[in-house]
Amino acid sequence: MTATRSVVLGCGSYLPQQILTNAELAARIDTSDEWIVQRTGIRQRHIAAEGEFTSHLAINAARAALADAGIDAQSIDLIVLGTSTPDHTFPATAVAVQAALGIHHGAAFDLQAVCSGFIFALSTADSFLRTGAFKRALVIGAETFSRILDWNDRGTCVLFGDGAGAVILEAQQQPGEASDRGILTTHLRSDGRHKTKLYVDGGPSSTRTVGYLRMEGREVFKHAVGMITDVIYDAFKATGTTAEDIDWFVPHQANKRIIDASAHKLHIPPHKVVLTVDLHGNTSAASIPLALSVAVKDGRVKKGDLVLLEAMGGGFTWGSALLRW
Ligand code: UT7
Repeated sequence: MTATRSVVLGCGSYLPQQILTNAELAARIDTSDEWIVQRTGIRQRHIAAEGEFTSHLAINAARAALADAGIDAQSIDLIVLGTSTPDHTFPATAVAVQAALGIHHGAAFDLQAVCSGFIFALSTADSFLRTGAFKRALVIGAETFSRILDWNDRGTCVLFGDGAGAVILEAQQQPGEASDRGILTTHLRSDGRHKTKLYVDGGPSSTRTVGYLRMEGREVFKHAVGMITDVIYDAFKATGTTAEDIDWFVPHQANKRIIDASAHKLHIPPHKVVLTVDLHGNTSAASIPLALSVAVKDGRVKKGDLVLLEAMGGGFTWGSALLRW
């Protein structure tokens, strides 16, 4: 029996020009390159320029994804944008992207699941495509976390950066087998009991301000590996696959230690893990498509490869996606 699958037609990414190194941070606050690299694997992050908004990063990533797919923006009828740092409280940053691309049909909306935003957006777009409601989706993760960081808090400001990544999905009929191309399964989770472990201390309804990111880093770390691996086991169970079948593991790029520990627990060898956290830090919803774009561009991820994605972040929210490129 055939199945409708959301097949990836292309991907792209964008990082703002300005790079902020660990050494530059160490000149401003009580930290060191050695501490940051050893605890997180991060060496630098990109910072959006004055007047450069989340939508601008998203538009650049979207254009790169459209070029990679070799398709016209007019064929896109759905835009789902994962972000926790929108240009404005409303309207959605996705409609700014839609307008910039000259698209006046279909639907565009934002989705907020913090660092899991891309997985949640991908899963949402996949669900719409499989129902037949839309044909081609642009799924974006875009963030300007530099705007919500407390630059005096060394426990958080060294960890995050700005960036955007995007993929184009198309609803296609596939044979309905494990060898199908496209998204094979997605699994989303959240547990609001952890909402104060990683949050922003402001908002339109509570303080009428934007606020700053606050995090109990050790608490997040403690839960991360268990939650990530649990939701990956769900993906394996749903598809009858095992860790051995995975060609590429493209995790949320938050901390190299979390990625290494998760891969180790899953028995995924290091050479199958795509790691870019050193180059851009934690870019929240943007990190997975940023890493994917690197691995596609350098020829690692190829047509037919089985690719495993996962993320975990504020809420807590967490999720996995298994797809064949
Ligand atoms: O998408 C999810 C987003 N969040 C995450 O993934 C974060 C998860 N958590 C982590 O990655 C880690 O907990 C951190 C990288 C944030 C911290 O690493 P840690 O090994 O858990 O360190 P810690 O918080 O236990 O702090 C150890 C020490 C403390 O000093 P004392 O109390 O031992 O004297 C901190 O004050 O390191 C100190 N410290 C720093 N030192 C130098 C904290 N931040 C810094 C810093 N530079 N930037």
